[in-house]
Amino acid sequence: MAGSTSPIWLGQQRGVPGSGGLADLVDTAKIGRRTDAAWSELKPTLERLVNGLNARSVLEIGGGRHPFLGLEEAERNGFRLAVNDLDAEELKYAPSGYDRVVFDVARDIDRDVIEMGAYDLVFSRMVFEHVRDARKAWSNVRDLLAPGGVGLAFVPTLYSPPFVLNRLMPEVLTSRLVSMLDRSRNAAEIPKFPAYYQACRASEESLRPFLMGLGFREVCVVPFFGTPYFPRIPVLAQVARAFDRLAEARDWRVFASYAYIVARK
Ligand SMILES: C[S@@+](CC[C@H](N)C(=O)[O-])C[C@H]1O[C@@H](n2cnc3c(N)ncnc32)[C@H](O)[C@@H]1O
Repeated sequence: MAGSTSPIWLGQQRGVPGSGGLADLVDTAKIGRRTDAAWSELKPTLERLVNGLNARSVLEIGGGRHPFLGLEEAERNGFRLAVNDLDAEELKYAPSGYDRVVFDVARDIDRDVIEMGAYDLVFSRMVFEHVRDARKAWSNVRDLLAPGGVGLAFVPTLYSPPFVLNRLMPEVLTSRLVSMLDRSRNAAEIPKFPAYYQACRASEESLRPFLMGLGFREVCVVPFFGTPYFPRIPVLAQVARAFDRLAEARDWRVFASYAYIVARK
């Protein structure tokens, strides 16, 4: 990986755009702050990271049956792409051609199934809210990364009201609610997994001590505001939208709905 251990990284201001640090590598200035941007900007953000890191090997954690990056993108950009999941059955549905690695990111990883310290970019989408041990999961990301490599987790965050409810309510109820609110979802194609939201927060203040304590040297968090999950009840929906806009304008990270949590080893 080019430039990963260059001393240019050493004195930079952490998480501040324009300082040449991780925020510039992620290019936070290009990413909007509404929830729809969280979904639409993920691919361009990963591509910027791949290019900025000159990444040669990329691993998706919890890619399941729908790996996020395509093999043609990997070929075009010249990197090796592996996809992981806890569930071998989920991986079986994934299109052919990916390197597949089955392990639980939140437990000890068998070093025979994957090479540690070998990945320039390790990313996940809608996975880390499901892990029961976020400390172990992020420690594993650190160990999977090459020096200077970057881990990115795209997660829903607390204390966005729908996710607080999802955390507190029994799974049978929330599964039913989600399929009522989002008719495009069905258990066969997009199953709902229990969520714990450990370390799923949208601010550097809450995550930096945790991640730097695990040995990451830079942390950058991109928050997103607005939730798709409020009911289509007129007044309630308007109040929710107004609240989301206020939270965004005031940068109330505690009420953000999603985040890219990015950490550099
Ligand atoms: C909500 S799905 C998201 C799938 C895909 N990343 C996406 O965005 O469509 C969560 C996926 O993470 C996997 N998963 C959950 N916990 C995991 C863990 N501890 N280690 C690895 N994969 C995990 C699940 O099996 C499932 O495929």
